Amino acid sequence: MKTPAVLKTRPILQKNGLSRVGIVGAGQLGRMMALAGYPLGLHSVFLDRGKNTPGAQVAETLIGELEDPGQLAALAARSDVLTFDWENISGKALAPLAHVACIRPPAAALEVSQDRLHEKALFTRLNIPVAPHRAVDDLAGLHEATRVLGFPGVLKTRRLGYDGKGQFVLRSSADVALAWDLLGGPGLIYERFLRFSREISIVGARSPAGRIVSYPLTANTHVGGVLRYSVAPYVNAKLERLAITYLRRVLKALTYVGVAAIEFFVVGGRLIANEMAPRVHNSGHWTIEGAVTSQFENHMRAICELPLGSTRALGHSAMINFLGGLPDRRRLLAIEGLAYHDYGKEPRPGRKVGHCTIQRPRATDRDEALAATLKLIEWT
Ligand SMILES: Nc1ncnc2c1ncn2[C@@H]1O[C@H](COP(=O)(O)OP(=O)(O)OP(=O)(O)O)[C@@H](O)[C@H]1O
Ligand SMILES: [Mg+2]
Repeated sequence: MKTPAVLKTRPILQKNGLSRVGIVGAGQLGRMMALAGYPLGLHSVFLDRGKNTPGAQVAETLIGELEDPGQLAALAARSDVLTFDWENISGKALAPLAHVACIRPPAAALEVSQDRLHEKALFTRLNIPVAPHRAVDDLAGLHEATRVLGFPGVLKTRRLGYDGKGQFVLRSSADVALAWDLLGGPGLIYERFLRFSREISIVGARSPAGRIVSYPLTANTHVGGVLRYSVAPYVNAKLERLAITYLRRVLKALTYVGVAAIEFFVVGGRLIANEMAPRVHNSGHWTIEGAVTSQFENHMRAICELPLGSTRALGHSAMINFLGGLPDRRRLLAIEGLAYHDYGKEPRPGRKVGHCTIQRPRATDRDEALAATLKLIEWT
């Protein structure tokens, strides 16, 4: 008897878990996912615009626009599961693929985190505090938002912002006109600028069966909206309990599968959620060397229906981003226990082109090594 077409295109649920991973976007996150998959027998295929992306240097890549229906269908046809290096794929582009491959994390999780207003609405619905904010769609709306929320505040595009792009900090009413000139248009959000004592994040994973694991908290230092370096574990039992509770609420509400992160501001001993990432996160890069199982491996395990690995930290880690260009490899590698990651990207001002991780058995030694390493790194 002829096999019905629908069976042919359904994901093959192997006894061993799924094993062909299609990754939309071939940036450094995708590359590190693909690399983490190889030892587990997981094979990745990317879709991205260019031939020389970080991902294309380590796995086969289909070349095309990320939302090109034909290329997405081709990627899905070659995959048991589709996942994302770039989370801004629309639900509309993904809908036709749902019958071909599993989409993990689910499209609804991507959609909610694509829009800062929807993301904040989800946090609020789940009783997770967020900064006071208002949607802004025209100049009158910006005036109204600054009147209600005051200064300082941050005007942000609701969609497609990253590394602090699409943001403007307003200090007084004198900044309104300039902010509007730079970002003006519909689809903005004005948030109160929070005087936080620290920025932290939590990275965790949820399996298809609903098991949730999370890494120790990470403390993050940003300059100009871009992450410069992170240290982990950030030890604070009360904040950790809160962060885990919030992460669990979000992952459960979204019936999430894979790794996700939530960024928080610490304000007066409380956690205020800034944003979530429905993917592996820059503040989790230290887990490659600094945890029993890396965030990249746990993402691959989760989406491929393999048991999640231990998130226990191995000592104390610091991760430093290389921005704009790579530092001298020879000098850095002379530092004991330093791991060097070159993403294979062209240098460009402000661009994340690599990172390094240092580990020490004790936090004080880690802090010393971090300070010494920071002296060798120039951000451009
Ligand atoms: N409401 C706020 N109050 C104080 N600082 C803020 C606020 N919003 C953003 N920032 C600062 O700007 C940084 C980047 O903001 P946000 O995380 O919203 O943008 P992003 O472009 O998505 O960044 P990334 O992609 O690097 O996470 C924050 O980590 C924080 O340092
Ligand atoms: Mg952020």
